[in-house]
Amino acid sequence: MGIKPLSLDEIKKMTVACRIAADTLTYLEKYVKAGISTLEIDELANDFMQTRGAKSACLGYHGYPRYTCTSVNEVVCHGLPDAQTILKDGDIINVDVTALMDGFYGDTSRMYLIGNVSDDARDLVETAMLARDVGIKAITPNGYTGDIGFETNKLVTRKGYSAVKEIGGHGVGRKFHEEPFVPSFGKKGKGDRLVPFHCITVEPMVNQGTDEYVEFNIPGSSIKYYNTADGLLSAQYEHTVLVTDTGYEILTLP
Ligand code: MF3
Ligand code: CO
Ligand code: CO
Repeated sequence: MGIKPLSLDEIKKMTVACRIAADTLTYLEKYVKAGISTLEIDELANDFMQTRGAKSACLGYHGYPRYTCTSVNEVVCHGLPDAQTILKDGDIINVDVTALMDGFYGDTSRMYLIGNVSDDARDLVETAMLARDVGIKAITPNGYTGDIGFETNKLVTRKGYSAVKEIGGHGVGRKFHEEPFVPSFGKKGKGDRLVPFHCITVEPMVNQGTDEYVEFNIPGSSIKYYNTADGLLSAQYEHTVLVTDTGYEILTLP
């Protein structure tokens, strides 16, 4: 128990790590197109982070064997980049990048639309972004994680979609994953207290159909990847956000 706020110097380091992670996603934009494999995306992301002096936090994390996560269509999260998965017209993909720089972790993900994507898929993707953003807007100094989840889930269910419950955001900073858990559903004033000058991620996973998922092992790793149980689409956006004494600051803006 007990979250230790970041010092000004630590906040500066967090800002740098988050800048690199966000810039990686922007850099990938021109490459994430039909015909590229998710393994190539993974290598491009790593090259970019290296050029900026950062390391991928994912590689070796609980045995995870890649630099990023690439979650295509019905993959909810932690999709494993591989040479056989080639993006094709109509796909949607989340690329999740965590940069480790100077001892601090910046964690962000976004969706990319491949060629002609159906209106339904576009709407899901747009909703996932909005779900993250209404969650972030609910952050107040000394507020609760439930404030975030409440707003996210309200938006998602209104649209007729479902938010994944057991997987969500987390504290981040000196460690990749730390307290508190940041759910994508909840009640206002419930959950864990937010701590000024501590960072959290807001990263709702929004499913077209059921919020249930099936898990798959990644060989040699205790990290699992998840697919929607009904095979319908899933979308996710993630920011790292600094809680401040007056509100919040998003550290992974594009
Ligand atoms: N970046 C993911 C998150 O948002 C975690 C990936 S862990 C890995 O929390 F090992 F799969 F890379
Ligand atoms: Co995260
Ligand atoms: Co992430």
